[in-house]
Amino acid sequence: MTGVAHRFTSAAAAQSAAIKRVTVVGGGQMGAGIAQVSATFEHPVTLVDVSQEALDRGKQYMGKSLARVAKKKYPEDPKVAQEWVDAVLGRIEPTTNLAEGVRKADLVVEAIVENIGVKQRLFGDIAAGAPEQSVLASNTSSLPIGRIAEQLNGTRRQNMVGLHFFNPVPQMKLVEVVKANETSEDTVARALEFVKSIGKAPAVCKDTPGFIVNRLLLPYMMEAIRLLERDVAEARDIDTAMKLGAGYPMGPFELCDYVGLDTIKFIVDGWYKDGEGLQGNNLFAASKKLDELVAAGHLGVKSGRGFYDYSKK
Ligand code: CAA
Ligand code: NAD
Repeated sequence: MTGVAHRFTSAAAAQSAAIKRVTVVGGGQMGAGIAQVSATFEHPVTLVDVSQEALDRGKQYMGKSLARVAKKKYPEDPKVAQEWVDAVLGRIEPTTNLAEGVRKADLVVEAIVENIGVKQRLFGDIAAGAPEQSVLASNTSSLPIGRIAEQLNGTRRQNMVGLHFFNPVPQMKLVEVVKANETSEDTVARALEFVKSIGKAPAVCKDTPGFIVNRLLLPYMMEAIRLLERDVAEARDIDTAMKLGAGYPMGPFELCDYVGLDTIKFIVDGWYKDGEGLQGNNLFAASKKLDELVAAGHLGVKSGRGFYDYSKK
């Protein structure tokens, strides 16, 4: 365990009950992944989305992903593998009713669109329905946890933490546990315990733009887009270069398409406008290429096209 993580665990472990029931709000690629992994590790899960279609898509995504895991877990027995998949899916209850969905939650993890106003409104609604002692968490990629929570009451702000998962959630081991100014040590300890209960490794960090991973990853992605805009090389060649020359599992354009170009645009536009210490930083200035793709609805893998075309795969 890291030094910082250890300090929090030993200082405040188990003052409040351990997290059992998990509600995930947002059934897109991240929310579905978080729901899936929580259910895999025996947590009863409620998955909330505004759209029934998104919940149906989320269920499909989870089914496919679980099938990959099950094939490795039970290589000799497809019947047992399918039973395991069905049991995990059976622990996930989908709903479009937020108030009902958060009513019994020990932990609510938000994974909706990367927009501060929308997230703040959602947390107002969550606070109106969730038990007072629930841990409230955001999976935001770039927004300050303290700002998302700023309209909540004092207890809620103490119970608010960042839980930043990585895509694809079932495969990526890390969860950044983000401590805002008002987050209590008990909340951090409960969050760390939860992260470990789902087989992930935590890294604790302060509430600064991009936390650890995205503060390093976003400049890299934007610099790759600018190489393309300056016509230094084709996207495919830049991707090949970074995979074979730097050992990255995906090139920057494959990664941008995987994350979602709308999410990347939300992140850089937000930081350029008012990111603490990042305002006006040229690394995050608008990119014509990125703006055009997003305006055309080419959001990456999830929409079938981004820097690359996925429609024929
Ligand atoms: N569900 C379950 N398992 C999955 C999976 C999924 N959705 N996707 C991949 N896997 C598993 C596979 O089953 C396979 O497992 P084994 O090695 O045990 O057989 C393993 O992952 C590798 O998968 P593949 O062989 O299909 O493909 P790959 O080797 O190309 O790996 C990848 C795929 C794991 C996605 C790899 O390309 C990778 O690590 N890419 C980089 C991902 C990354 O950087 N993510 C962070 C994005 S930034 C972010 O998330 C933060 C943010 O706020 C924007
Ligand atoms: P996505 O577009 O795949 O899914 C978002 C989902 O939220 C959609 O299903 C949408 O219907 C739903 N939604 C929107 N408003 C809602 C509301 N008010 N109530 C309930 N559901 C609502 O997005 P995503 O890629 O899963 O990203 C979600 C969050 O996770 C964002 O904050 C993003 O920055 C963060 N994140 C993304 C990645 C990534 O690689 N994509 C990685 C880490 C964190």
